[in-house]
Amino acid sequence: MSTPQEGGQKTAEVQPISPATGKLGVMVVGLGAVATTLIAGVEAIRRGYAKPIGSLTQMGTIRLGKRTDGNSPLLKDFLPIAQLEDIVFTGWDIFEDNVYESAAHAKVLEKEILLELKPYLEAIKPLPAVFDQYYVKRLHGTHVKTGKNKMDLAEQVRADIQAFKKTVDRVVVIWCGSTEIFIEPSEVHQTVAAFEQGLVDNDPGIAPSQIYAYAALKEGVPFANGAPNLTVDFPAAVELSRINAAPICGKDFKTGQTLIKTVLAPAFKARMLGVAGWYSTNILGNRDGEVLDDPESFKTKEESKLGVLDFILQPELYPDLYKDIFHKVRINYYPPRGDNKEGWDNIDIFGWLGYPMQIKVDFLCRDSILAAPIALDLVLFLDLAKRTPMLANLGIQEWLSFYLKSPQTAEGLYPEHDLFIQSMKLKNTLRHIMGEDLITHLGLEYYD
Ligand SMILES: NC(=O)c1ccc[n+]([C@@H]2O[C@H](COP(=O)([O-])OP(=O)(O)OC[C@H]3O[C@@H](n4cnc5c(N)ncnc54)[C@H](O)[C@@H]3O)[C@@H](O)[C@H]2O)c1
Repeated sequence: MSTPQEGGQKTAEVQPISPATGKLGVMVVGLGAVATTLIAGVEAIRRGYAKPIGSLTQMGTIRLGKRTDGNSPLLKDFLPIAQLEDIVFTGWDIFEDNVYESAAHAKVLEKEILLELKPYLEAIKPLPAVFDQYYVKRLHGTHVKTGKNKMDLAEQVRADIQAFKKTVDRVVVIWCGSTEIFIEPSEVHQTVAAFEQGLVDNDPGIAPSQIYAYAALKEGVPFANGAPNLTVDFPAAVELSRINAAPICGKDFKTGQTLIKTVLAPAFKARMLGVAGWYSTNILGNRDGEVLDDPESFKTKEESKLGVLDFILQPELYPDLYKDIFHKVRINYYPPRGDNKEGWDNIDIFGWLGYPMQIKVDFLCRDSILAAPIALDLVLFLDLAKRTPMLANLGIQEWLSFYLKSPQTAEGLYPEHDLFIQSMKLKNTLRHIMGEDLITHLGLEYYD
């Protein structure tokens, strides 16, 4: 019997991916800190002022074949993804500020760079938003649509998308809006028919983010969700996504504390080290922090942040190590820090014979600097998924879990939160759709 190859599982017949010709229109819901950092960042990179650091699509490579082949092209050369030069931005917000004004307000990027980009940023003005303060208590929107019911509002958003579609070749919508109150899926979320009836009846279970998502999915437009809101995480949205070949993924950008958590927790599990407690606290002072200071919005974020440990540590498989873990997440609004969040973790672990140890992580991060490249990658990968016959009609793109605190999965399937499993899944999916060998990391053949 021959030794299986490390890069050995050849993908079956591959249908060609349509090329990324023409312009990619990106419609951003919520032109706040993350969105303006994304838009200004892409323009700065296009002009050669800065490098796309943090973006896998722009800087990442992918190994093809055996380790000895020395073949690791850049992802952007390997895949038919849209070029940054071809991206055109627009968006919606509940305030009238253009992207320059909003970026200046967010204070993420320095004044000098914003002034340099001012004419470009000023020209991007938000469309009126779908908004209802019931769903985001701390905001008072003025630049908003009115309509006779939620279906009417959804139709207005569809009209916005249709109008933009006339100016570009393809469209992706991404939610970079505020975190809405916690909503659990109910009857109205189960089927497309029930959801459409709910739009007509103004069902309170349908938040604005779901209205944008519905509009995008009906238009066959991929939809990414940077916040922990329900948005597309319910059966009716998955059904629409599949029917209309409008790919979706999970929710809530995995940027700072949770990124680190999903690196450390797999290490503890891999080494069979126990965890007694994990206390995570954050201070931040941007508008997101202000919104999350409201208990109902915080609850949505808390659920998203708490979920990861149980899935990674699997207490049901390892009761001696993880059954009694005390996991707490706090977020405190602290204006002096602005967008520069401090995420502090105290982890109580235990080792051989139960002896306790502690790990402290103090991550002085920049929220939007970490989130912007994720938003860019999600947009480019969802556009790629839409043009890939193998992926377009799947609905949920689980291979994009890598970027998200709450990955979406097929019903009955637990999500993978371990960053390295997610990274492998992402890269193997890319190899698969391009007809390349999957990489198994077996590697016995090198010793034959
Ligand atoms: N920055 C990060 O590291 C990070 C990580 C994960 C998730 N997120 C999420 O990303 C989202 C954006 O974060 P941010 O720091 O840019 O917040 P932000 O407050 O600066 O921006 C949000 C923007 O959305 C607008 N908005 C709210 N509701 C809207 C609606 N219905 N329609 C249109 N616009 C609406 C607000 O007016 C605001 O301009 C938040 O939900 C946040 O929780 C951020």
